[in-house]
Order: sequence, then C-alpha cells, then structure tokens
Amino acid sequence: MLEKMKGLDFTQQHITDELGLSADIAKGYEPSKEDDLTMLLKQLDIKSTDAILDYGSGKGFAMVVMSKFDFSLVGGVELSEKLVEICKRNISKLGIKKTEVFHSNAMEFKELDRFTHFYLYNPFPEVILQEVLQNIQESHQRKPRKITLVYNCPRLRDIIKNHPFFEEIKEIKGKHWDIVIYSNLKKKNEQSIAGLPSFWMSLSVCVCRFKGRCEFHLRLNTGQETQR
Ligand SMILES: C[S@@+](CC[C@H](N)C(=O)[O-])C[C@H]1O[C@@H](n2cnc3c(N)ncnc32)[C@H](O)[C@@H]1O
Repeated sequence: MLEKMKGLDFTQQHITDELGLSADIAKGYEPSKEDDLTMLLKQLDIKSTDAILDYGSGKGFAMVVMSKFDFSLVGGVELSEKLVEICKRNISKLGIKKTEVFHSNAMEFKELDRFTHFYLYNPFPEVILQEVLQNIQESHQRKPRKITLVYNCPRLRDIIKNHPFFEEIKEIKGKHWDIVIYSNLKKKNEQSIAGLPSFWMSLSVCVCRFKGRCEFHLRLNTGQETQR
C-alpha cells in the first residue's frame, strides 16, 4: 500500500506466463526476502572496489538492498522487458546511484569482468545456470580475481557442487531459505597443488554443458514440463 503511494512496485509476484516468458528458460518473479538478504550481505567482506550483479534482477528489490552496502556498482540483468522498465522506474524514484540494469537473457550476458560478486535468487532452470557458470568462469580467465557467488534458495545446488570452478564455502540458514556462498579460490589452489591441467577442468565443464543441452532439447521434443 505504502509502496503504491510512493509510485513503487516491488512486491507483486508474476508467473512466467504473465511476463510472456517461456518456462524452459525462465522462472517467475518474486522479490528476495529483505531480512535474509541483509543478513547475508552483512556476512560478506565487502570492499569499496567490489561490484555485484543480480542475475534475474526483476523489479530491482535485491538491487535496492545491495545498494545500501559498500559496492562500487550494483548491476542487474533481467530477461523480461516489462520488469526491466519497472526496475528502472523504481530505482529512479528512489534516487539510487551506481546501478545499471541490462535487458538480456542471463546466458547471453557476458559483460561480467567488472563484477566480483554474483547473486542468484533461484532465477532460472538448469540449462541457463550451466551457461551462466561457464560465463563467469570465462570472465575469470579473461580477468583473474576473487569471485563470490551467492545462491539464495538453492534448488539446483548439485549443479554448482559438481562444477569444477566453484567451491562451496559457507551455508547460511535464512529465515525463509538456505543460502549458499561459493568462491573460486579454494578449488583453484587445490588444482594448482595437484597440478591438474586446466584442460581437464575445461573438458569437464564442456561435458556438463553438453549434458544440460541434451536434456533441454529432449524436454523440448517431448514437451516435458520444466517449471518449478
Ligand atoms: C525470483 S525472481 C528474483 C528477483 C530479484 N533477483 C530479487 O531477488 O528480488 C527471478 C527473476 O529472474 C528473471 N529471469 C528468469 N530467467 C531469466 C533469464 N534466463 N535471464 C535473465 N533473467 C531471468 C525473472 O524474470 C525474474 O524476474
């Protein structure tokens, strides 16, 4: 109610049909829970040089919460044009600076080198997540740095667990969902100790992506439902 009076729109949820999105590549809109997200961000050691990207930024609620922390930039990438417009309006009405919103499918969005932190609030299905993880890894190859990935409501936790680039460093029990924090550093160190050539790492990622794509096309051909 107060939100409407201020001309803001964060709360109303939307299923994919309402957004004109296919359930094969997207999940619907629901804002992050403020208490859990704030508690999580307080636990990250955020430096003023850090920048965070919200994958599936929706109406920008998580971006607003993130902007209260010391990030140099809060980015969002969102598939729904309608939600991008609402997000831009919300952010402008609140007068929040140092934010950028991109209208794109997350799997095609590659402008990642500026970001040190990536946030997922259960935004998309496996086939998209696989590509996104690969994009982050490729960004790291172009620009090596410490990367922190946060997965709120981690329905596809096994996908990241089996990914060679990310290491689970912490699990937080939120009031609403579990939240898992990943970093790239630990596995990288282990690999350099073990002398595992990067070729094998890349190969295993390719196998995971190929498997994901095969399952995706199989589902399309058989018309199997992929929505949550
Ligand atoms: C659960 S909402 C999270 C919203 C916001 N991140 C937050 O925490 O408040 C997930 C969002 O991901 C977006 N989304 C789904 N699939 C996407 C894709 N393939 N690329 C970009 N955004 C996507 C949806 O449109 C939706 O707005």
